[in-house]
Amino acid sequence: MELAVKRGRLGLEPADVVVLGQFEGEAALAGEAAELDKALSGLLSDVISEGEFRGKLLQVAMLPSRRAIPAKRVLLVGLGKRPEFALDRLRQAFGKAAKEVRDRGFRSLAAGLPGAEAGVLEPAAAAQAMTEGVLLGLYRLTRYKTAEAEELKEVEQFTIVAADEVAQRAAEQGSGRGRILAEAANFTRDLTVLPANEATPSYLARTAEELARSDGLTVTILDVPQMRELKMGALLGVAQGSQQPPRFIVLEHEGGRPRDRPIVLVGKGITFDTGGISLKPAERMEEMRGDKAGACAVLGTMRAVAALSLPVRVVGLAPATENMPGGTAQRPGDIVTSLSGLTIEVINTDAEGRLILADALGYAARYDPECVIDLATLTGACVIALGHEVTGLFGNDPELMDRLRRAGEVTGERVWPMPLFDEYDEQIKSDFADVKNVGGRPAGAITAAAFLKKFAKAYRWAHLDIAGTSWMDKPRAYLPKGATGVGVRLLCQFLEDWVRDRGR
Ligand code: BES
Ligand code: MN
Ligand code: ZN
Repeated sequence: MELAVKRGRLGLEPADVVVLGQFEGEAALAGEAAELDKALSGLLSDVISEGEFRGKLLQVAMLPSRRAIPAKRVLLVGLGKRPEFALDRLRQAFGKAAKEVRDRGFRSLAAGLPGAEAGVLEPAAAAQAMTEGVLLGLYRLTRYKTAEAEELKEVEQFTIVAADEVAQRAAEQGSGRGRILAEAANFTRDLTVLPANEATPSYLARTAEELARSDGLTVTILDVPQMRELKMGALLGVAQGSQQPPRFIVLEHEGGRPRDRPIVLVGKGITFDTGGISLKPAERMEEMRGDKAGACAVLGTMRAVAALSLPVRVVGLAPATENMPGGTAQRPGDIVTSLSGLTIEVINTDAEGRLILADALGYAARYDPECVIDLATLTGACVIALGHEVTGLFGNDPELMDRLRRAGEVTGERVWPMPLFDEYDEQIKSDFADVKNVGGRPAGAITAAAFLKKFAKAYRWAHLDIAGTSWMDKPRAYLPKGATGVGVRLLCQFLEDWVRDRGR
């Protein structure tokens, strides 16, 4: 996809489709919209005043230009009510618009900087959000559709038209960042949906190695003997039922000052979760190939961090294994010793995510980190609590949690704080070991986090339960059915904000 930022007038732009964002219930057209309307002899004001297009969020109307302007069509896209407008609505509108352009067989679209003329949005932020919307919205996984591949229509060009040189320069910057972030999120989507017969732990490790080579990161892959050496008994316990050897992936970005303490990101990398001996029911088990979404988000974030050359030290950790039943699998009642020395009674082998994270969180302590953030498709209970709309946020540091919440607002990858009072620890007390890996039905997402908290004592820590947000049953404005790539844009925003505030 070619991205361009030009200086000029939208009405003179020779793209197939010119996209115009329009607020709900506003009949008066201003700026570029008024110019286009005039060139089209009042066509836009007619469809608006006649009530055909009201500007409701994500409403679209494709109008023929009848050769009155160079573009073949004008696409009106609703931005919703002006007071409710936010950056993510722009992202959504452009995701929807780009898909509309593609579905109708057009190959290029152009747009001005909506909101910029009204002073609502910075041109850089607007251009970034529009670019992300287009690239995220047009995403699809095509590699397994052998027959249809040739007939697929693709959009080839997105042009942002800026009114003056200052806006143009800002938009160029925003568009460049938007491309890096959206491409990293799409990389995470591809990797997350990849079936478990291909995406094994070794495959994830090889992908991390390729990433390191292409993007200039440092990579270390730990194998089973090294895990034994480190006494990663919790991770090895989960892995022992699988024919596929586990891998522990370490990616490092050496930005910033050499003596800075790093920010460590940890992602759950279960390449397939059968539940193990505590076997899951068959229905929708195929979605458990997405149980590596956290690890894939960490890989995608590291890729973006490197591409953006962020001046901060970032370490990405991804424990990767299958969770399989079988003759060598761990059993309910088994007791394992984690890297930190804490012993864990495995009551339910399907609560495997917290086990592999226990060792990864223990490993993170060796970096004396500034903070640690883990992402995990950890609990079905989180999906029950928050649905697919927001990520569950837990942690031991309110300031860190608030930073993540704010990054969620900007990126549209919203997160919401959940309580983690000490009383919940009662539910995971074991009769035989230091802790057990399940806490019963009540507050399932919280007791999972309470378990992780025991392994994150040495530093400031936040946990993101992405079980609901990493996978969609049906597509949204810029989210596909299946893997969403959640976490990549959120964490990059968090890191950029961190760098900015640290400089003060
Ligand atoms: N990977 C699952 C959680 C999950 C469920 C993610 C649905 C995405 C969609 C996790 O390993 C799991 O199985 N959790 C159990 C924990 C229980 C045994 C305490 C769960 O949520 O049922
Ligand atoms: Mn499980
Ligand atoms: Zn799992």
